[in-house]
Amino acid sequence: MTLNLDTIEQWVNPAIRTLTSKSAGPAKDDQAIRLDKGELPYPPSPRVVDAIAKAASTCNRYPAVLGGVLRDKLATYTGAKPEQIILSNGSDDLIELIIKVFVQPGQQVLLPIPTFFVYGHATQVMGGVPVLVQRSPDFGLDVEAIVAKVTSDTKVLYIANPNNPTANLVARDTLIEVLNRVNCMVVVDECYFELCQTTIADLVDTYPNLIVLRSLSKSFGLAGLRIGYAIANAPVVDYLYRAAQLFPVNKVAIAAGSAALEDQTYIQANIQRVLAEKPQLQQSISALGFKVYPSDTNFLFVDTQPLKLPSNLLVKALQDQNIWVADFGSKPGLADHYFRTAIGTPNENQALLKGLATVLASLAITPRTPNI
Ligand SMILES: Cc1ncc(COP(=O)(O)O)c(C=O)c1O
Repeated sequence: MTLNLDTIEQWVNPAIRTLTSKSAGPAKDDQAIRLDKGELPYPPSPRVVDAIAKAASTCNRYPAVLGGVLRDKLATYTGAKPEQIILSNGSDDLIELIIKVFVQPGQQVLLPIPTFFVYGHATQVMGGVPVLVQRSPDFGLDVEAIVAKVTSDTKVLYIANPNNPTANLVARDTLIEVLNRVNCMVVVDECYFELCQTTIADLVDTYPNLIVLRSLSKSFGLAGLRIGYAIANAPVVDYLYRAAQLFPVNKVAIAAGSAALEDQTYIQANIQRVLAEKPQLQQSISALGFKVYPSDTNFLFVDTQPLKLPSNLLVKALQDQNIWVADFGSKPGLADHYFRTAIGTPNENQALLKGLATVLASLAITPRTPNI
């Protein structure tokens, strides 16, 4: 039988057919100023690189099923028990796994927006229904609106804390109020924990429906290796592991993550370098006339509206100078005038400021000091 591609397309799960295609993105370019992915701008330490080299020589063997030594080290690092920890191929992997375990096709995942796009995408991949609820004007959580949206079909609520892209933290009391009032799994995504030092991981014993997500991508500078983990009650972790792939985290990543956790002096120094740049970058972007939101993490969320400039035009004009920030104009929950930039090295931040000033000059927009 000869089948044509139209037939094959009809066989594709409808939940997948309607998703958009991925593109490769711009070609790798060492000259580019890349501030669009919220990465740490500094490379891993020599100790981590050594650990990677050592692990590479044993790659003929599979990695440990439950994460081996890295799971134990994360238990020590977080204060949770090893059986309360699950490792994953980046925290993106866990976002999908949680939905796989708790959400059946047609059931709902509640998303206060604007927020990290992977929650909605993973929900759609699994045939779930993303239910969007607007955050308040300062991007805090509107607890009443959240509670009002919870139905018997709501299975998971995702809260990024700090939130991406808006960079703000929601207070612990607010999260506790949500936990006390909703009847579903609550995932608090603490991907940026080391940059803000605020957590509710200590509450997993009190709230069996709480899952705290973490990542070694950002503060530990291991985005390219893909290591995420979650802290939750042991039975919840057990169910997640049942559905996970047998080897979600590779051997090199396990070795690198373990070495990075032991290299706290290097990690803390990098975090301090990034945080030290923040006030000056915030101030300088504001001085150009943009509105910069307060940030509890390693990126800034910027409103281009005060300059009457749609963010897509600005982001494109920066790209023409080989400077990359993330356009959030018209993304779910947002109007057409927002972008997000990582805090880079001092040189990268200077390049961004120069690039922004060049764009404003080319559009004949006069930089101005905003009224505070
Ligand atoms: C809030 C949030 N959660 C999760 C992730 C994904 O992290 P990972 O690299 O661990 O998959 C990101 C990445 O930007 C993020 O901003």
